[in-house]
Amino acid sequence: MLFHPVRVKGVLLHGGKGTRLKPITYTEVKQLLPVAGKAISQYCLEDMISIGITEVCIVVGSVGATDVMEHYGDGSRWGISISYAHQPEPLGIAHAVGLVENFVGSEPFVVYLGDNLVHGGIGKLRDNFIGGSFDAYVALSRVKTPERYGVAEVKDGKLYRLVEKPKEPKSNLALTGIYFLKQSVFDVIRELKPSWRGELEITEALQRLIDKGFSVGCDEITGWWKDTGTAEDMLDANRLVLDSITRNTENVSRQDRNIIGRVSIGRNVQMDERTRIKGPSYIGEGTAISASYIGPNTSIGNNCILKGVEIEDSIVMDNCTIEGEGAVSIHESLIGTGCTVVKGNGVRKGTKLIVGRDSKISL
Ligand code: G1P
Repeated sequence: MLFHPVRVKGVLLHGGKGTRLKPITYTEVKQLLPVAGKAISQYCLEDMISIGITEVCIVVGSVGATDVMEHYGDGSRWGISISYAHQPEPLGIAHAVGLVENFVGSEPFVVYLGDNLVHGGIGKLRDNFIGGSFDAYVALSRVKTPERYGVAEVKDGKLYRLVEKPKEPKSNLALTGIYFLKQSVFDVIRELKPSWRGELEITEALQRLIDKGFSVGCDEITGWWKDTGTAEDMLDANRLVLDSITRNTENVSRQDRNIIGRVSIGRNVQMDERTRIKGPSYIGEGTAISASYIGPNTSIGNNCILKGVEIEDSIVMDNCTIEGEGAVSIHESLIGTGCTVVKGNGVRKGTKLIVGRDSKISL
């Protein structure tokens, strides 16, 4: 990798309402939802740290600001410094960026949307941005549904038009939520008017930079990219992250053939001899599993109790109890923190659940 002594600061966004992830987001901040036992935005933070960023400003929204601040604190857990900016209303990404002008001072910076996951890190993007003396640099990814995103039109490697959620997209290149920027963006943000969705759009700010003759570069990211806006996206992200998990079973005494493939098991996990766990899967700390089948593509949180249940392709958050008496199988589910799911009168095979915190369900 090239050595670039230029310092880059980090801005990590935690705004938005998480509308498409209700009911989970009635009580949780979507960027803190766990994938393989780690908050989504923590993957973003660690990406920034891996390119040498040591100063990060987290923009928090009106919902769950305290949760975010408790999770990240002053950054000392990661050996960096974290400060916070408050966005009282969800007025858009460009509005959030406008709030960090003092924080970034005269340095270039990267804005990372805390609900985006990318594979392979952001080092190459940073090198291109700094090496090419761009005013802004964006990461693009080819998608099947470009109308859901900001869409880029590129000719001969040059970015010439950006449109936010076009009805008739002119390309399948989506803007991912990673934007390398310089101070020039603040003046164009001041000129923006709210879009049809009542937000100041970063896509429009970038278009204005292009129109004013600033150099805006782009690169297609080679690995996968996931915007975790919906439950389906969360489960996809879970699959993608688990796809590169390594086997770690040293915390369990039972090193037997009931743990199949790449399974990562936390401390103080108990599993009995009637339980099978198939990777790729992740089991958090302090969880007790008996007479169950877990996996593949399943993340179970900390301190859960699972008895007599089959779970596949799912995320079960912390402190859940699921007791199926051997008659319940759950798949493609997102089960919020502290839920209780028990077997009722019937036999339930193939149940799909998207349930928020502390729900109680009898199947
Ligand atoms: C935002 C941006 C959009 C971008 C997307 C990436 O969309 O406005 O241009 O493609 O993030 O995640 P939103 O999540 O606000 O709908």
